[in-house]
Amino acid sequence: MQQQAIIAKNLYYTYETGKNKVEALKGVDLSVNNGEIFGFIGPNGAGKTTTIKLLLGILIPEKGELALFGRAPSNTETRRTIGYMPEIADYYRYLTPVELLTMYGNIFGIEKKLLHERINKLLKLVGLGEVSNRLMRTFSKGMMQKVSFAQALINDPDLLILDEPTSGLDPVARKKMREVIQDLKATGKTIFFSSHELSEVELVSDRIAILNKGRLLAVGSAKDLLGGKAEGQSLESYFLNMIGERI
Ligand SMILES: Nc1ncnc2c1ncn2[C@@H]1O[C@H](COP(=O)(O)OP(=O)(O)OP(=O)(O)O)[C@@H](O)[C@H]1O
Ligand SMILES: [Mg+2]
Repeated sequence: MQQQAIIAKNLYYTYETGKNKVEALKGVDLSVNNGEIFGFIGPNGAGKTTTIKLLLGILIPEKGELALFGRAPSNTETRRTIGYMPEIADYYRYLTPVELLTMYGNIFGIEKKLLHERINKLLKLVGLGEVSNRLMRTFSKGMMQKVSFAQALINDPDLLILDEPTSGLDPVARKKMREVIQDLKATGKTIFFSSHELSEVELVSDRIAILNKGRLLAVGSAKDLLGGKAEGQSLESYFLNMIGERI
C-alpha cells in the first residue's frame, strides 16, 4: 500500500453563486501518512469542509493535485476504501439504523451474513444497540451523529474522513469515540478529522493542520506546534493567539 493516505498539492477552490465568488481554498498542501490520526482545525468558514469535499471527489478542485492511496478521489477502488462522516447527519429519517446501514452495506456489495454481523457490531460499538430498530425520526442530534459514525465504518475503510465527528456528542460518547478512533489506528487505519474541540484534537492526533481563510497556517504534532512556547500552553491557547492575530 502507498505510504501516503492523502496527498494534496496546491488546492484551490472557488464557490461561484450568481455574482458572488468565495475563494474558499487558496493553495492548500496536505500530506497524511498511512496509519496516522490527522486533526484538521480552523475557524468557521476556514475551508475545512470544502477540503474534505475535494478529498471525497464531491467537489472538483479548480487547481491542484489530489491522491488518496496514490489514486484519484473519483476512482472506484478509492471510494471502496474510504469511510466518510459528513458535517450534518442528514439521512432519510423514516428508516431505522439497521435499515440505513443495510442500504449502505448493499451499495458496497457486502455479503448478507457479514453485513448483518457488522451492523450489529457497529451499532453496539457506537452505543445504539438498544435502538437499532427504532425509526431515526425519533432520534436526538447526538444519536444521529452515532448513526453517521457507524455508517462511515460500514465498509471497513482504510481511510476515515470525519467532518466534526464529536459535535453534539455527550462527554461519555466523545470519550468512547476517541477510544474507537485510537483502536482503529491500532489496526492500521488512517483517520483524517476536522474538529472545533481543540483539547480533543490535541489528545488523539499524531499531527494537526491549522487552516485559516483557505490557507494553512501550520502543520505538525502538538509537540512541534507548541514547542518553544510557554510551558503548559494548550493547543487552544496557541490557536487563539494565532487566529486572533489574523482576525
Ligand atoms: N455552497 C457554498 N456556496 C458558496 N459558498 C460556500 C459554500 N459552501 C461553503 N462556502 C464558503 O466557503 C468558505 C469555506 O466554507 P467551509 O464550509 O469549507 O468552512 P469550514 O471550515 O468547514 O467551516 P465550519 O467550521 O463552520 O464548518 C466559507 O466562506 C463559506 O461561506
Ligand atoms: Mg465545516
